[in-house]
Amino acid sequence: MGLLNGKTALITGAARGIGKAIALKYASEGANVAFTDLVIDGNAENTVRELEAFGIKAKGYASNAANFEETQTVVNQVKEEFGSIDILVNNAGITKDGLMMRMSEAQWDAVLTVNLKSAFNFIHACTPIMLRQKQGSIINMASVVGVHGNAGQCNYSASKAGMIGLAKSIAQELGSRGIRANAIAPGFIITDMTAKLSDEVKEEWCKKIPLRRGGTPEDVADVALFLASDLSSYVSGQVIQVDGGMNM
Ligand code: NAI
Repeated sequence: MGLLNGKTALITGAARGIGKAIALKYASEGANVAFTDLVIDGNAENTVRELEAFGIKAKGYASNAANFEETQTVVNQVKEEFGSIDILVNNAGITKDGLMMRMSEAQWDAVLTVNLKSAFNFIHACTPIMLRQKQGSIINMASVVGVHGNAGQCNYSASKAGMIGLAKSIAQELGSRGIRANAIAPGFIITDMTAKLSDEVKEEWCKKIPLRRGGTPEDVADVALFLASDLSSYVSGQVIQVDGGMNM
């Protein structure tokens, strides 16, 4: 008996990286998994097959999470094809780093729209379904820099701080209706997003981490499983840092 048997999870930006690890973790615990990404290519189709190997229903949807109308359409499709949406993970995210003095309006808008407005889009579309079900768990992927800030990432940090405020507000608005909302704040996790950092930068990061290693997508997925399942049935409005102790 899996921790998520009979549940349907919808995860944004899950063709690879942390989102994919969460999808696999949920499938291994019995959840049906719908996920989105910008394109559903061969890699994403492989992800679908890996998920189906757990004996659950899985499907990838091509959709830009930053687009309000596309999101409404994809959520309607998932509801029709899966029957319910019990878990929503707002995971899609990008970086366009730069110091404030040199940051363009386009860099700011792109990161705020993909990282934060996308979560509004999905929460707005999914909560009517969760309200009718009288239960749901919403997980916003934030970041430690959303809690502590980071020079060179004012757009990204602001978007991730927004993800925390959004989760806390939804937790207050919808808690009485059986809907929980929490945020995960990963630290330095080894994925395509961090692959572009130089070895020196990665070594510097690791020196600041008490556990002396970068995290894996699976480290984050384990916490996402806790927040999606009944193991956290009395946990709402919280931010859980998954950062090897980097920020205390
Ligand atoms: P990644 O770059 O490996 O994967 C992100 C996924 O989101 C990709 O599949 C990408 O195609 C998709 N995506 C991007 N824009 C999209 C859009 N508009 N609509 C739909 N999908 C879109 O990144 P990673 O590392 O797996 O990050 C996942 C989440 O975790 C992001 O929100 C990121 O900000 C957050 N995070 C990552 C950390 C890290 O160290 N890797 C640390 C803290 C937070």
